[in-house]
Amino acid sequence: MSKLNPADWDIHWQRPVVTSMDGHFPDNYDGEVLAFWQQAITGNSGHLADLACGNGAVAWIADEILNRPDPRVQVTGVDIATIDPFKTLGKNPAQFPKVRFIGNTPLHELPFEDHSIDMVTSQWGLEYSDPERVIPEISRILKPTARMAFVCHHEDSYILQDSRIRAEKFDILLNHGDLHGQYLALNDLYNAKASFNKVKADPAFLSITAEIARTVYEIRFDFRSSKDPSIQSADDYLNSLAKMFPEKGKTRNPRRKQKILSGMHQLEATKARLDDLFAAALSADDYAALIRLIETEGFTIRESGDLLYNGRFSVGKALLATRG
Ligand SMILES: C[S@@+](CC[C@H](N)C(=O)[O-])C[C@H]1O[C@@H](n2cnc3c(N)ncnc32)[C@H](O)[C@@H]1O
Repeated sequence: MSKLNPADWDIHWQRPVVTSMDGHFPDNYDGEVLAFWQQAITGNSGHLADLACGNGAVAWIADEILNRPDPRVQVTGVDIATIDPFKTLGKNPAQFPKVRFIGNTPLHELPFEDHSIDMVTSQWGLEYSDPERVIPEISRILKPTARMAFVCHHEDSYILQDSRIRAEKFDILLNHGDLHGQYLALNDLYNAKASFNKVKADPAFLSITAEIARTVYEIRFDFRSSKDPSIQSADDYLNSLAKMFPEKGKTRNPRRKQKILSGMHQLEATKARLDDLFAAALSADDYAALIRLIETEGFTIRESGDLLYNGRFSVGKALLATRG
């Protein structure tokens, strides 16, 4: 279950990204993830609700499958975060007449009439809520012949393994040797002097830059000794901080402090989202309990198992259930 303030998700969804794993899936999900949704959604009619929709990854897939060339099926995405995928992604609503999004809405209070929805989907979303409250709520809104399909984060999935490594790296960048504090001190020095020569002449310059050099060396060492694919992005991040402090030209920069702080806040928000993922991911017992909840509401499980990406990387549990 989610421990995150929805505002932390707002930060993510205000960026023009369709997925929550934009490093791996910049446009939208593909491969077996897309194939799962294609087979789960194809043939649906009426009204599909995508829960915890983010910037609409599954909603856009559903619209593509169900509404081309004829827009027939209403697709509604719901999320607790403040979302506006049309605006954020620069999509023209007139080209998607059957798609709409409702933000600031928790899954246990779905804004739909009883028995009004033909299919519910949720990808890496349901497990962030409280399924004990949300499965009955889904049951309330679904029609007697409806179906539900979920992809859920699972403790043993590849995504979780990869995310644990990434979280360690964010810890290193955020907590190893107070990198940001040292750069903020350098910023104060730069802003107090009129030229680089004057900065360099100040005794504090040597001590601050020596501290920074040591921290950066240790961070790079920690990164290099791992097999983390995001080493390059850590390098880029370290270089972007260093570039804010040129050794010639203007030393004063009133916006630099804000840039350092906003880089740090982005890292903190990403780290917080990773921690939230660890809290949300289902254990084997949680998954068994979820299945029992669904069955208790009168649904029959039609498919359930690991969703393998590229034939071998589990990206979670995929589940399809129908009423009756
Ligand atoms: C990992 S993202 C998945 C987004 C999208 N389904 C996708 O596949 O890209 C998880 C989403 O769950 C939403 N969320 C978390 N708790 C929620 C709740 N209780 N009710 C509604 N949405 C929630 C977050 O705001 C976030 O957008």
